Amino acid sequence: MPKYKIAWMPGDGIGVEVMDAARLVLDALQLDAEYVPADIGWEFWRTEGDPLPARTLEILEGCTCGLFGAITSKPKDEAELELIPELQGTGLSYSSPIVRLRQHFDLYTNLRPCKAFAGNPLNYKDEIDLVVFRENTEGLYSGVEFFPLPDELRQCLTDHNPKMRRFDHIHSSEIAVSLRVITQPGAERIVRKAFEYAQRFGYPTVTLIEKPNVLRETSGLMSRAARTIAEEYPDIELWETNIDAQMMWLLKNPTDYGVMVTSNMFGDIVSDLAAQLVGGLGFASSGNIGDKIAVFEPTHGSAPKYAGQNKVNPIAMLLASKLMLDWLNEVELAQTLEKAIARVIKDGKIRTYDMGGTHSTTEMAEEIVSQLDS
Ligand code: NAI
Ligand code: MG
Repeated sequence: MPKYKIAWMPGDGIGVEVMDAARLVLDALQLDAEYVPADIGWEFWRTEGDPLPARTLEILEGCTCGLFGAITSKPKDEAELELIPELQGTGLSYSSPIVRLRQHFDLYTNLRPCKAFAGNPLNYKDEIDLVVFRENTEGLYSGVEFFPLPDELRQCLTDHNPKMRRFDHIHSSEIAVSLRVITQPGAERIVRKAFEYAQRFGYPTVTLIEKPNVLRETSGLMSRAARTIAEEYPDIELWETNIDAQMMWLLKNPTDYGVMVTSNMFGDIVSDLAAQLVGGLGFASSGNIGDKIAVFEPTHGSAPKYAGQNKVNPIAMLLASKLMLDWLNEVELAQTLEKAIARVIKDGKIRTYDMGGTHSTTEMAEEIVSQLDS
């Protein structure tokens, strides 16, 4: 029996092409795994009314982890119009299968490494090596939102916080509220993951990016959690910065930073900036990691413009596969893969369109395969 069972979720558009590339590489690495195809994406929304069918969740339950390509999603009204006639008007409403995966399996760590590979013409600066730990389940993206603001809730908020009085002259039907929920266990576990990673891979600092001077309670809680956890890691320095200033510092001095940790929405923003510093969507990979299971993916979407053209850069997907290998503790295979990717980028002979070249997805993947044992 193979050592690992990996749920194989290509999804839509270029998701399929980059997953084919990943398979070429994983097969060449001879990872001892069985790949179990699992349905996700637009086609299943259209024909079954569910982009993440229950059978896919079942497959994942029985797997070591999952690899995911990309999906297409569309605004609510458009989504309903594309349902097959039998499903139209049945009250189905589209929701993102990725967000559901994260919540269903409590994949609370969103790990997004952004490393500048030498020779990548898209690098903002060479030697950038950033790793973002974004809390993936709570914060401003908890989904606890209100519109209009219910009267009981409004009364309760006013009773508990006089600052609500400032809005007294505005009708409840004109007030929207999204709750930024941060819990102590949630804060502690994401900060701990950041420190563990810094220790494992030898980063001297962990930067907590929040805004405690304004968001006194939620960012304050993150800050206290970070200081508590930091005490367990005397060799790693905790830096605390504000999200707004940090965006400037990241552009100005990106090589000053390494591991960064933050709450959900700030992490969403920080990780996109960090990804662009090292080449953008063709190089941005991520892991959605829980205590039992994890799902790895490139951060790009299904890029309909390029679907079926064998044109996009598979490196983001291959770096996601590398993250999976790290998570599986297949350290040697992970290093072999990363070195091969680094070599191909440095050589610069094979480049996809985003890097200024004309080579195909498959050519890039095959070149990386050819460098695996050198
Ligand atoms: P996208 O990430 O699919 O593509 C935007 C543009 O980035 C592409 O047109 C292309 O120029 C470039 N790009 C993306 N991946 C690339 C790669 N591997 N190599 C080279 N260039 C690449 O974002 P877009 O166009 O906003 O969304 C398209 C669809 O994907 C939508 O339906 C959206 O909802 C969905 N989406 C899904 C995500 C996911 O599955 N995780 C994430 C983002 C969007
Ligand atoms: Mg984002």
